Amino acid sequence: MTNKLKYFIGNWKMFGDFNDFKIIKRINEFSYKSRNSINQKKIIFCVPATLINHYKKKNKKKYIYLGAQNCHDQSDYGPYTGYISPAMLKKAGAEYVILGHSENRLTGESNKLIKKKIISSLNKKLNVIFCIGETMKEKKRKKTFSVIKKQIQDTLKKNFNINKIIIAYEPVWSIGSNKIPKIDELKNIILYIKKEVKKIFKSKENPKVLYGGSVNDKNIRLFSPIIEIDGFLIGNASRSSKKFIDIVKNYYK
Ligand code: PGA
Repeated sequence: MTNKLKYFIGNWKMFGDFNDFKIIKRINEFSYKSRNSINQKKIIFCVPATLINHYKKKNKKKYIYLGAQNCHDQSDYGPYTGYISPAMLKKAGAEYVILGHSENRLTGESNKLIKKKIISSLNKKLNVIFCIGETMKEKKRKKTFSVIKKQIQDTLKKNFNINKIIIAYEPVWSIGSNKIPKIDELKNIILYIKKEVKKIFKSKENPKVLYGGSVNDKNIRLFSPIIEIDGFLIGNASRSSKKFIDIVKNYYK
């Protein structure tokens, strides 16, 4: 068992209504009850923007944190029908926001746009969960490292507060597919990401890098030997309190 802080972040995507607070409630209780046995964990739930404020008000004794899944690149008001600004998310009660998720990149989000979103979110004192990762086609062409490097270099700038940014390595081909990377390959990629990010920030301290993509209660043990992984971004399995809690429990077993 490791003593390093590990993140377990749920990404609900387009799931959830007011009644599903029961999932958050159960996980919050688990987080509280295991606070001594597993004290080096941080649980965050990135829920749809429609639920943040409602959950925030109900989640009074908080042992888990709330986040959003995307935002506009303008930090405050703007004439952008249908969009939500970082300021609005912050006011609703979000402390984190996922940016650069491949499902958003697929709709045309560029590194340039994601960079703007990071700047606006940091300005509004949101913590950023910044997603990067290669497609299957890029992997097959052995482009994983160059793709990741470009995503990092085009987006992260040395004046950003890296302490407010968590990087999530999510190979596009692993999301929702039940496929996970080979463990030794994954370890090398995580180390590479840390090295590239440290170069930008000229820091000795390691940035936080998570893995995401088809993480579940069965395969989580496979990741435990890679101590360099600072946690997990969990989609599908975060919609069930039992599955999510089992992921955390099994990780520390
Ligand atoms: P998944 O999603 O766990 O369902 O693969 C992960 C994500 O998209 O963040």
